[in-house]
Amino acid sequence: MLPLKNIVLCMIVIVTTLTTTIWCLPPHIIFIVADDLGWNDVGWHNDQMYTPNLDKLAKNGVILNSSYVQPVCTPSRNCFMTGYYPFHTGLQHEVIHPLMPGYLPSNFTLLPEKLKTLGYTTHIVGKWHLGFCNKKYTPTYRGFDSFMGYYNGAEDYYTHVRDDGYDWRWNTSIYHPPRNKYSAEIIADQAINILHRVDPDIQPLYLYLPFQSVHDPLQVPERYENIYSNITSKERRTYCGMVSALDEAVGNITQVLKSRGFMKNALIVFTTDNGGPTYLAANNLPLRGAKTTLWEGGTKGVSFVYSENLLSKTGYINTEMIHAVDWFPTLLYLAGGKLGESMDGVNQWKTISEGKLSARNEFIYNIDDIANNAAIRVGKYKLIQGSPGSHNGWTPLPPLMDDDSAKNKTFSGYQLFDIENDPTEHYDIADQCPDTVQQLISRLKHYRTTMVPAHFPNNDKRGDPINFDWVWSSGWC
Ligand SMILES: *[C@@H]1O[C@H](CO)[C@@H](O)[C@H](O)[C@H]1NC(C)=O
Ligand SMILES: *[C@@H]1O[C@H](CO)[C@@H](O)[C@H](O)[C@H]1NC(C)=O
Ligand SMILES: *[C@@H]1O[C@H](CO)[C@@H](O)[C@H](O)[C@H]1NC(C)=O
Ligand SMILES: *[C@@H]1O[C@H](CO)[C@@H](O)[C@H](O)[C@H]1NC(C)=O
Ligand SMILES: *[C@@H]1O[C@H](CO)[C@@H](O)[C@H](O)[C@H]1NC(C)=O
Repeated sequence: MLPLKNIVLCMIVIVTTLTTTIWCLPPHIIFIVADDLGWNDVGWHNDQMYTPNLDKLAKNGVILNSSYVQPVCTPSRNCFMTGYYPFHTGLQHEVIHPLMPGYLPSNFTLLPEKLKTLGYTTHIVGKWHLGFCNKKYTPTYRGFDSFMGYYNGAEDYYTHVRDDGYDWRWNTSIYHPPRNKYSAEIIADQAINILHRVDPDIQPLYLYLPFQSVHDPLQVPERYENIYSNITSKERRTYCGMVSALDEAVGNITQVLKSRGFMKNALIVFTTDNGGPTYLAANNLPLRGAKTTLWEGGTKGVSFVYSENLLSKTGYINTEMIHAVDWFPTLLYLAGGKLGESMDGVNQWKTISEGKLSARNEFIYNIDDIANNAAIRVGKYKLIQGSPGSHNGWTPLPPLMDDDSAKNKTFSGYQLFDIENDPTEHYDIADQCPDTVQQLISRLKHYRTTMVPAHFPNNDKRGDPINFDWVWSSGWC
């Protein structure tokens, strides 16, 4: 059953233009996630970067300049899939490590499950990282019609091995892509295969593309690295090449979206999962800090949306506050679905498509009960409780230098920043604004009362790939 607003839209369109059936379908959704992409690592922020395909989409779409994510991988993916902050799902501390029997709890309904009830065909190509110790936590048991990719993180881009275990599957079966093929190409090829199998005029598509690029290990085919031959640092050259490989993959997919007829009725979302690891050649300038930290450099994500038919205002920089949890309700709304429950995410469709004011005025950066730190944003103010992490400086562009100018500084109590006037977090104004500090502390306290404790179990040797023919596998929790 199509929701009422789509039926009405459909009838109006048929009456006025007698056009084809595609207008009756909810839009195709292509959700692209880059891994560990820094703020300063894309062409529209840094003209050293060669990302022509992403630049074109970003500049002709809407650049999201205040789109926040979590400081690390698993928690951000948790947000994209559930619409809930990780401190409500138990995933607020670090990531799911390979031998850790951690997972995204089964009682949360994931976005692809919801979209399936609206008629979507749903596919994931790339990184999962939301648990696999029991097969019920893996993608094809959680709303995806197909999965090609890997369960963990930080594996080799060619051999797909992480810590002696092979990690690449198609649905639930072990799968070996062509030897020596770089993962950005494997992911692009599989995405393109899916685009050839789905008829864009018959069924709406949700294609979730969490690329391996540009997470470490730093590996890239030479032709991409050569684009940056005048950068002196080998690490930075490689990293930048990895970004350009991702860009080419997106370019290839975009071409097929056009030629197959998806683009007439599609939304492309592009976002990083967290800020760049400056200690691994990424760059977040002018932002402070890195991946794993509560600083803006860890949490203010590179992001844009692109569409040929769905955005009424394009070609500008949108500065409204958006958080990773907002994609769930926003995309569900776009698909014609109903939100059955109130969740952390809010529907930002008007913000994104019309440039209206954000549907939120505050968000939680994280509340980590194990690391004992937290941060909250209310309006222009950001309060950090405890230590934001261990990369506290402003990393200069290459040649790489030590970014830890502020490393030995200890952070205790609370810091307050005015992000609107000081987006680079140079001036802690906690002492000057005690009332604001108190207000934000009490908001944070309120959220804390709703927290579930972090689920961060010890490593379990039963998960060791040695027990599964050297393949990371389910069946040990
Ligand atoms: C490399 O040199 C070219 C040509 O001089 C220049 O346009 C480009 O910005 C340089 N790239 C870097 C990374 O410095
Ligand atoms: C986008 O964000 C960056 C980094 O915080 C900031 O320097 C820039 O001024 C923002 N752009 C706009 C148009 O607000
Ligand atoms: C899932 O279960 C946890 C733990 O019982 C609970 O805190 C949470 O509210 C539940 N979430 C949903 C969406 O049902
Ligand atoms: C994976 O699942 C999809 C959708 O059901 C199917 O088309 C594809 O053939 C499956 N692949 C394998 C290797 O089983
Ligand atoms: C993009 O397509 C070209 C032409 O088919 C191919 O040579 C290249 O390897 C592809 N790149 C990626 C990253 O998929």
